[in-house]
Amino acid sequence: MTKHSLGIVLNGVTGRMGYRQHLVRSILAIREEGGVLLPDGSRVQLEPLLVGRSEEKLSEIADRHGLTDWTTDLGAALADSRYPVYFDAQLTSVREASIAQAIDAGKHVYTEKPVAESVDGALSLARRAADAGVKNGVVHDKLYLPGLRKVARLVDSGFFGRILSVRGEFGYWIFEGDWQEAQRPSWNYRAEHGGGIVIDMFCHWNYVLESLLGPVRAVTAKAATHIPSRVDEKGVRYDATADDAAYAIFEFDGNAIAQLNSSWCVRVYRDELVEFQVDGTRGSAVAGLSGCVVQPREVTPRPVWDPDVPDTHNYRAQWQEVPDNAELGNGFKAQWEQFVRHVVADEPHPYDFVAGARGIQLAEAGLESSRTGRRVELAEVKV
Ligand SMILES: NC(=O)c1ccc[n+]([C@@H]2O[C@H](COP(=O)([O-])OP(=O)(O)OC[C@H]3O[C@@H](n4cnc5c(N)ncnc54)[C@H](O)[C@@H]3O)[C@@H](O)[C@H]2O)c1
Repeated sequence: MTKHSLGIVLNGVTGRMGYRQHLVRSILAIREEGGVLLPDGSRVQLEPLLVGRSEEKLSEIADRHGLTDWTTDLGAALADSRYPVYFDAQLTSVREASIAQAIDAGKHVYTEKPVAESVDGALSLARRAADAGVKNGVVHDKLYLPGLRKVARLVDSGFFGRILSVRGEFGYWIFEGDWQEAQRPSWNYRAEHGGGIVIDMFCHWNYVLESLLGPVRAVTAKAATHIPSRVDEKGVRYDATADDAAYAIFEFDGNAIAQLNSSWCVRVYRDELVEFQVDGTRGSAVAGLSGCVVQPREVTPRPVWDPDVPDTHNYRAQWQEVPDNAELGNGFKAQWEQFVRHVVADEPHPYDFVAGARGIQLAEAGLESSRTGRRVELAEVKV
């Protein structure tokens, strides 16, 4: 069996996402399996070069995982022709400049979302990548989650009939940092550092909704900062300038509607941290990160509203679990494999910078709607 290798500059591996989901659960997991399987049956092994700001942290991570190549010099990493791919999981606010630098160095680029802080920024990167002839991709991890892959399978089978609506709940309680440490970095709550739940989550909601209902045509949203003051990693109190919850309605062709709540100020009374209910004329589904249950039209019960008698329905028991029927592994890893095949074997990977720009467009429109109190229509994003 032929074996190839692909060098990847990984920037931001000391961070939460960069370390856990991308380095450990994706790149190192793929390395352990002997590389990404290509269509011709050969494998391409991944060779990471870790990049960050702290020598101490990088060398510690490298030692922990038996890796040898790391540097704090991004320019030198990008100049090294043994690494044709650049990946970015840095803080959102510093991403655009690094990606531009990587494109100019001729690297193919894969990145965490959002690809930039504005639609204009994302589209200028898309143009730059097209001009340089480099491949580009943005993390669309939710589509690769087992729960949403099962929903995609239901859509493909025609299970839903016509989809009428999607309702979703995302969120959990993020501690304020005073008496228990916050479980997300403090920059998420500072608008000036690229924080905010709208810019964070609407990028995801855009591609999830696109996959179910087509392009979002209009949004009406209200963003809120419920907790105005938090305590950061150093124990210092700061003003939370970014939104920590958003309540939104999205409209689609054919009168389909989606309604999603996103909040870092909500306590979970659900089976999973995110759940989507999809209601169609022929059946409904509720999907989370991993699970998915369905209720077809033929077995839909007939509840009757009567507040005078106790409800005897066990509503949750009236749904049926959708089986995995396949190995549904880590979503980040699955998308990495697809992007690597895109770079090495020219296989399709539709989630490019323009797809990323559409996610940012939805976030910008959501914030505008919240600011003005108006419904905002979305124009088609063009490079
Ligand atoms: N796909 C997802 O589900 C998902 C989830 C959470 C976060 N994200 C995205 O991942 C990115 C990183 O988020 P995170 O939660 O891992 O953040 P984090 O704070 O844990 O990590 C940020 C990384 O950026 C580096 N960095 C580079 N320049 C920096 C600077 N000037 N100041 C501070 N840090 C700097 C840090 O050293 C660190 O490695 C963000 O763009 C975020 O939107 C994606």
